[in-house]
This record gives sequence, C-alpha cells and structure tokens, in this order.
Amino acid sequence: MSTPPTPIAAHTPIATHTPVAPEPMPLADIDLADNDRFLDGETPWRMFHTLRREDPVHWQPEKEPNSGFWALTRHADIVAVERDPQTFTSSRFTNLEEVDDSQIAVRRSMLETDGLRHTALRKLLHKQFTPRAIADYGTFLRGLTATTLDNALAKGTFDFVREVSADFPINVLARMLDVPDEDTEKLIDWGNRIIGNTDPDYADVLLESAESEQYRDLPFRSPASLEVFDYGREMAAKRRGGQGTDLVSRLVDQVPCDGVPLSQHDFDNYFLLLVVAGNETTRHAISHSMLALIRNPEQLDRLRDDLTLMPNAVEECLRWASPVYHFRRTATRDTELGGKRVREGDKVVLWFASGNRDEAVFENPYDFDVTRKKVDHVTFGKGGPHFCLGSALARLELRIMFEELLPRIADITLAGDVRRVRSNFVNGIKELPVTITPA
Ligand code: HEM
Repeated sequence: MSTPPTPIAAHTPIATHTPVAPEPMPLADIDLADNDRFLDGETPWRMFHTLRREDPVHWQPEKEPNSGFWALTRHADIVAVERDPQTFTSSRFTNLEEVDDSQIAVRRSMLETDGLRHTALRKLLHKQFTPRAIADYGTFLRGLTATTLDNALAKGTFDFVREVSADFPINVLARMLDVPDEDTEKLIDWGNRIIGNTDPDYADVLLESAESEQYRDLPFRSPASLEVFDYGREMAAKRRGGQGTDLVSRLVDQVPCDGVPLSQHDFDNYFLLLVVAGNETTRHAISHSMLALIRNPEQLDRLRDDLTLMPNAVEECLRWASPVYHFRRTATRDTELGGKRVREGDKVVLWFASGNRDEAVFENPYDFDVTRKKVDHVTFGKGGPHFCLGSALARLELRIMFEELLPRIADITLAGDVRRVRSNFVNGIKELPVTITPA
C-alpha cells in the first residue's frame, strides 16, 4: 500500500532549513580572503566551523599587494583581542585593505582611532546614542515602520529588501541628521556603493581592481565617498552656529574634550561613518531575521503569539544575522595568540560571525531560537572601546520592525531565490522575494 502524499504545510518554505552544523570544509580548502566564497550563504559557515575546531588562530594568505592575516574564529579570542587595544590597535585600519601613513592621515575616522582622541571623538555624539536618547525616536520609528509595512504588504509578493529593510534604517538616520526626505534616496545609493565595494552590482570601482588605485585616499576606495563629503560639508555650513540638535549640528558646534577641534578630514570621515555604519548593517540584520523567521515558521508563530519574547528574540536575531563578518586589528608588538606567534604589524582579523556560532558559548549554535536566553553575541563587538555606537538604535529598529510586522501577517513564504552581497566584510542580503498573506 502506498503512503498518501504529505500535505504541504501552510508555511512550507521553498528552501528548507535544517538546523544542523554545516558540512565541515577541509582546512586546506579554506580561503576567507576570497569574496566569491561569501555568495552562497553556506560556505562561510563551513569555513568558520572547521577553523574553530581545527585552527582557531589561522594564518590566511592573501593575494598581492596584501600580506595575509591571522583569522580568529573563537568567541573567547575575539573578545580578548577587542579588550586589548594596546596590543591590537585599530589605528592601522580595520578592514583588510592595507593602507600607508598618508592614506591613514586622510581616511581615519573614530573607528580607526585609539586612545584619548578616540574617546574625545566618540563623546561628541555618545549621548545621542544612549538607549534613553534613542527611546525618544520610538514614536517616529513606529510610524515609519507602519507606513513602510503597509505599503509593502499591500503588494502581496515583493522583494523584502527593497520594500522594507533597505530604506528603513536610512530614514531613521536621515531624521537624526535632519536631512530632507527627498535626499534619503541619495544616502541609500551612497551607502550601497561604498560598502558594496567588492560587489559588481553596487560598486563604481571594485576594490580589487587596478582602477581603484586612483581612489586610494578615499574611504573604501569609493568615489561615492566624495559625494558624501560634499553633501556633509554643505550641511555643516548650513548648521554651524545654529540652534539645531541634529547630529551634524552637534558635530560642528562642539570642540572634542581633548581640546583639538575637528579638522575637515575628521568631519568628513565622521559624517561618512554615520551614513554608512548604521545603514547597511541594520538593513541586513532585518533581512536576515526575516529569512530566519521564514525558515523557522514555528519560531515565527511563537514570537507572534507572545510578543513579550521580543527583547530576547532581537538578541537572537542579531546573533543569527551577524551583518558584519569581521573587523581587523593590527598587532603593535610581537605576541602570542592561541599558541601562534603573532608579529608586530601582523593583521589580526576578528570574525564576529564565527564567534556567534561558537559551540563553547552557544548551545546548539545552528538553531535559531527566539527563546534563547542570555545571548552573548559579538555582533556589535564586545567589551572594547569600539563597541558599536549605534547598538541601542539597531536594537530598537529591529524590535519595532518585528512588533509591527508579525501581527500584520498570517503567513510569509519565500517567493524566489535569496541573493547575497559579494563581500567577506558585510554579510548582506540584496534580494529576498517573499509572498505574504495578511492577517
Ligand atoms: C545591526 C546593526 C549594526 C551592526 C551589526 C553594527 C556593528 C558594528 C561593529 C561590529 C562595530 C565595531 C565594533 C568593534 O570593533 O569593537 C561597530 C562600530 C560602530 N557602529 Fe555599528 N553596527 C550596527 C548599527 C549601527 C548603527 C545604527 C549606527 C548608527 C549610526 C552605528 C554606528 C557605529 C559607529 C559610529 C561605530 C564606531 C564606534 C567606535 O569606533 O567607537 N552602527 N558597529
């Protein structure tokens, strides 16, 4: 007797997700420097899985002109390095690109500054990003979320990235910077082009290309940075000496607490950091969380049935999403890490995404579990001076997004292939086609 066909559950996703460890990849096949390996959403996790087990402080060779780096994939090592900026500095830059002193002088932002100057720069806007200050945006955020969702959900089938996650974070930043609504499209475009500098769909000039050499003095070697600088300078000129409480007014009307005023480069790079740091990252956090909920419909139901789970769920979403794969430090002296001899000047790369799947910290790390307690993720860094300035904002955006979204939908399924950003730096989703059934 043949068995009757299994009925298709209302939530059956196109691509099913099995929460098991990824298939290990032989150590010899691993290449974290190859952006192409980061396109399928599987290979990076396979590489991290093997590295954590077999070689947690791994020497990763790179193509010329880069010199290779130490890849740290365990949670404990990542946190230890974050907490020791004396030995592992950010001031030789935090991406894989190797820059000389003249590039550092013009491209440095607070992210690439250590010590007192870093503290002074951070303090300029620190108060604007505390959980209490951010809570003031709650009402605005809820209104923006509701409008974004109502417009998107009315379409039935749509690209979740384009219609929901892409514009949402930048609209919030636009409000904090007090830029006119009609300019937000420009900000989105700049963010895509700058951070997407290894993805041909986004970049004007690919980072690896010889052509990028003429833009070596610009952040991310992206010509779009010049447009951001022009825009920021124009805003600064308008705001200087005014009564504004927006981020730009605060930047131009305060002297950092070390008494050294912001130079033009300081201002340009600060402004650019604000435009790019919170935009792509939060967008991808929202998209990854949506994808995780689609692939784990029982988790979606659970969360929708009990929205008090949301604060925990947001932390699990952040762990799961890991929108920033890595940041880099540089050793300031010869030292030892995990039994390996690290030399002064070596690049040391913290693979936050891998730390977020570390079995030593997370039980069943490959399960997406909205009830997981004390989610000790390293998505925003951890315990170091560069811990993400915008973490409270990102958390609030995620919380409000899913508090507003879940009650509006009865069902959501994938309606096509998920496309990812080609980058070993940003763990990004650029297309997430979905079909929703309204509640
Ligand atoms: C889910 C979203 C976000 C993620 C995953 C993220 C991730 C990170 C990470 C990993 C760092 C470096 C931490 C370290 O090296 O210790 C960082 C720094 C930073 N982030 Fe975020 N971020 C997010 C959202 C935001 C938002 C909304 C803003 C607001 C503008 C922001 C602004 C910054 C700034 C200014 C820094 C530099 C802090 C410093 O150097 O002291 N980020 N972020």
